[in-house]
Amino acid sequence: MEKINIIGAGLAGLTAAITLAKGGRHCRLISLQPSERAQSVLAEGGINAALDVMGEGDSTEYHFEDTMRGGVYLADETAVRRLTDAAPDTVKWLASLGVPFNMADGHIVQRNFGGQKKKRTAYAKSSTGKMLMTALIDETRKYEAAGLVERYPHHEFVTAVTEGGECTGAVVRDRYSGSTVLFGGRVIMCCGGLAGLFPSMTTGTTQNSGYAAARLFEQGVRFSNAEMLQYHPTTIGIPDKRCLVTEAARGEGGRLYIERGGEKWYFMEEKYPELKNLMPRDVVSREMYFVRREKDCGDTVFLDMTGLSQEIWQKRLPDLRAEIMHYLSIDPAKQPVPVHEGIHYFMGGIHTDAFHRTNIAGLYAAGECTSQYHGANRLGGNSMLGAVFGGKTAAEDILAAAEMTAADETAYSGSETVREPTDAVKRQLGSLLYEGLGIVRSEQGIDKALKKLDELEASEGVFPRMLLGRAMLLSARERRESRGAHYREDFPEKNDALRAPTFAVYRNGRTEIKIGD
Ligand code: FUM
Repeated sequence: MEKINIIGAGLAGLTAAITLAKGGRHCRLISLQPSERAQSVLAEGGINAALDVMGEGDSTEYHFEDTMRGGVYLADETAVRRLTDAAPDTVKWLASLGVPFNMADGHIVQRNFGGQKKKRTAYAKSSTGKMLMTALIDETRKYEAAGLVERYPHHEFVTAVTEGGECTGAVVRDRYSGSTVLFGGRVIMCCGGLAGLFPSMTTGTTQNSGYAAARLFEQGVRFSNAEMLQYHPTTIGIPDKRCLVTEAARGEGGRLYIERGGEKWYFMEEKYPELKNLMPRDVVSREMYFVRREKDCGDTVFLDMTGLSQEIWQKRLPDLRAEIMHYLSIDPAKQPVPVHEGIHYFMGGIHTDAFHRTNIAGLYAAGECTSQYHGANRLGGNSMLGAVFGGKTAAEDILAAAEMTAADETAYSGSETVREPTDAVKRQLGSLLYEGLGIVRSEQGIDKALKKLDELEASEGVFPRMLLGRAMLLSARERRESRGAHYREDFPEKNDALRAPTFAVYRNGRTEIKIGD
C-alpha cells in the first residue's frame, strides 16, 4: 500500500492530509516542527472568498480579476480561476470545522484588504491563521486516530528520491534520534516560503529554512517567478525578525503618513484616491521607500490607527494592539506606530500546473513554496486560501490516479545529508540577496550581489541555498522591466512583451533562466 509523503504540516500540509484520509488513503505528515508551530499560525488578517454577504455585489469573477490584476498578469490564469471559484466553498468548509470567523446577523463578516475593490476577507479577529490551524489540527486528529494519517514531527526533509525521472519517495531525518529513513510513495511538498534565506529580515519564521525548496531546485525541479518577493508595507522591528502589522489595520481605517515640512502628509490618500492606503502591497511599499527620500520628508513612515473605534480594537484587532504594546510599548489606539517595509512572502517558487504537479512525475507542491496563484504580487488574504485549496487540489489529483507501487519505510543506505552552511555564511548570503533583491533593483546592484555570491561560494563551497539564491538573482536580472514587486530603476516601465513567468532550472551544473515557455 502506497503512503503519500507530505512534507510540511501547516495549512497546505494539513489540508492535503485531511483530503487524502477522507478519500481513504494513507499519508505521512512529516515536519520539522509540530503543526502548532508552523508559519501558518502567524497569519493574521484573513482569507479571501467572494461570499457576497456584505451587500456589495461581489462575485468570484471580481475576485479572479483582482487577483490577476494584483499579480500584474503573471499568475496562472487557469489555476487562479479554480482558486477563486472554489473560495466560497473553501471558507464555508473551514467555518463548518469550527473556525470562529467574525459574524454578524448570522453571516460571516468580511473586511477590506489591499488591492481589492470589495469587502472580501473573512477573518477571525486578528489571528485568523491560528484559528484556521486549530480547526485543521483538530480535524486531522480524527484521521490520525483512524490510522490514516501518521505524524512525523521533528523530522527534516533531506532529499527527494527519483527513479527514471519519477519521484518515488523522500529521505527524511529524525532530528531527535539522528536516524535517516527512506519513505516510499509520492511526495507533496508543503514546505513553506524561503524566510530562512533572509535571516532576521522577514515576518515569516526562519524555521522555514528554505533548504527543502533549494534541494529540490538542485535536483532539477523547475521554479518560476523566483525574483518575486513581497515586501509588506507595515512591519515593525523586533529582535532578529520583522513583526507583521496586519493589513487589516488599514482595512479597518488605519492611515499611513510621513512628516513633510512639519505637517502630516497622508501620501497614499493623495496619490491614490480610489484605494488609498489599500493599494496592493508592492505599490504601498514602493511609495514608502520613495517618500522617505523626498525633500523635506522625515525618515519614518507612521501608521496612524488612533481613529479606530474601541469596538474595532476589541472585536477585530485585539491581538494586534497587544502585540504592538508588547514589542514597542506604544498603544496604537493612542499613538501612531512607526512602520517599515519587510520581506513577507515569496510569490515565486516551485512551478506547478493548476493541479499542483511539478515537472517531476509523482512530486507535487502546495502552499507558499509554489508560485502559480500570485504572479508578481500577492493580494493579502489570498495566501491562506492558496495554501488550503492547493493542499486539497494536490491530494485530489493523487486520489484520482492509480496507486504507485512503492516501498514503505526502509533504512536509508545512501550518503545524502542536509547540506547547510554555517549561520554566519547564511547571514552573508541573506545580506547579499537583500542587496540585489530590494524594493528598488538595478542590473548593477544585481551584478554586484552575484559577484559577492561568487566570492562566497569560492570561499565556503556551494550549498543548495546558494544555487537557489543565484536563481533568484538571475531571474531578477533577466526581467528587464518593472512589474509588481519587481521594480527596476533601470527599466522603470512595464513591458508587455515580458508578460510571462520567469522560469529557472538547474541542469548539468548550470542554472538556466528564461522568460516564458
Ligand atoms: O497583513 C496581513 O494580515 C497579511 C495577510 C496576508 O499576507 O495574506
